[in-house]
Amino acid sequence: MSINHFPTTIAAAHAVADRIAERLKAKPSIVLGLATGATMEPVYERLVALHRAGEISFARVTSFNLDEYVGLPPEDPRSYRSTMDSQLFDLVDIDKARTFVPDGLAADTSAFASRYEAMMREAGGIDLQLLGIGRNGHIGFNEPGADFAARTRVVDLEASTLEANSAFFDGKLPPTKAMTMGIGTILESREIIVLATGATKREAVRAALTGPIGPECPATALRRHANVTWWLDAESGAGVAGESLAAE
Ligand code: F6R
Repeated sequence: MSINHFPTTIAAAHAVADRIAERLKAKPSIVLGLATGATMEPVYERLVALHRAGEISFARVTSFNLDEYVGLPPEDPRSYRSTMDSQLFDLVDIDKARTFVPDGLAADTSAFASRYEAMMREAGGIDLQLLGIGRNGHIGFNEPGADFAARTRVVDLEASTLEANSAFFDGKLPPTKAMTMGIGTILESREIIVLATGATKREAVRAALTGPIGPECPATALRRHANVTWWLDAESGAGVAGESLAAE
């Protein structure tokens, strides 16, 4: 596990985008695992800028998003499908038929979840998974208590997650359930990049990197993966600067 510290949020986000671009250039048919949320907005802005500058092409990329709210149709602007379309997919040369987001309207959610897992396997597995972190240490929507072996499934969102994400719902509460890749799914990615920015993430980052490994902080599961890099700004990284960080 390694940690990259940056003085500002934008520097950390742009460095993450540059790392993704580097991996994409090395493997144009890369399979990306993607996240949504405020943290990722400057990452996608930078990727779009790099594409417009002729630096990178997404033409052969396949992508799988981590999660989606249950009950939101894809055309709802607050769905993660719409968010990805407007922040990245519609702005680059990706083949939208190869961009996958869990179906928030699936009638049989467990059948859909198994199919989603099968599609990831058939694509050859995720080469590079981009992750944010929740204030409560969640990754994807795997809230505290989630089993480290869990696969894609429907979960209940914690009150703190609903409150944090109400910013995207005009201050009202978002749907209370989501479909998310499991921690077990996430840990199968070949490489993981975690971007955490801002003071609201400081405690979660500290717990993830230095606290006891266990389901109370889902992000501690990442210490069981051999190829994880954390990208932090001054505020999120303040609690871990200078500490020795042992993987399990
Ligand atoms: C989003 C996701 C979540 C977010 C996390 C941080 O697809 O899986 O784990 O990464 O909730 O969200 P922001 O970036 O809005 O603070």
